[in-house]
Amino acid sequence: MKSIALSTLLLLVAACGGETTTSTSTTGSSGTGGAASCPNDLPASCPTPAPTWSTDVATVIAARCAVCHAPGGAAADKPLTDHADVFARRSAVLNQIHACKMPPEGASPLTSAERVAIEGWLVCGAPDD
Ligand code: HEC
Repeated sequence: MKSIALSTLLLLVAACGGETTTSTSTTGSSGTGGAASCPNDLPASCPTPAPTWSTDVATVIAARCAVCHAPGGAAADKPLTDHADVFARRSAVLNQIHACKMPPEGASPLTSAERVAIEGWLVCGAPDD
């Protein structure tokens, strides 16, 4: 019996899409929250003028991401400290920013100008320019 109850619970958790909500009751259905107002602002193609790493992106990554994504930070195992780091993780970075998952809750969100610059630069292929 115990194992059946446990696997049912695990199925329910899986059905919730693995969101990081701690389920407290079975009746509360106020949604999973988080990215409720996340804009769908991904450019369809490389914008003109193209944002550049050195002018538009590096300072934002350094100020808003490397706080945690660097040695000693909360995500030190996924460093984002220079172009090579960001380039290596560029598709995950795009996903996380576009889905408004990074910066995480508790850290202030990117401004729309910051989002547009990083997303545009990633769509351009994340060059070291
Ligand atoms: C407050 C600390 C913090 C800040 C600020 C932060 N992150 Fe994170 N990030 C984390 C932690 C912790 C994880 C690991 C979470 C996990 O594995 O579930 C993570 C995971 C990630 C991942 C990996 C997700 C995956 O697919 O495994 C990416 C990519 C990422 N962050 C990008 C960014 C970017 C880009 C920024 C800046 C816009 C940023 N993060 C800002 C703490 C932070």
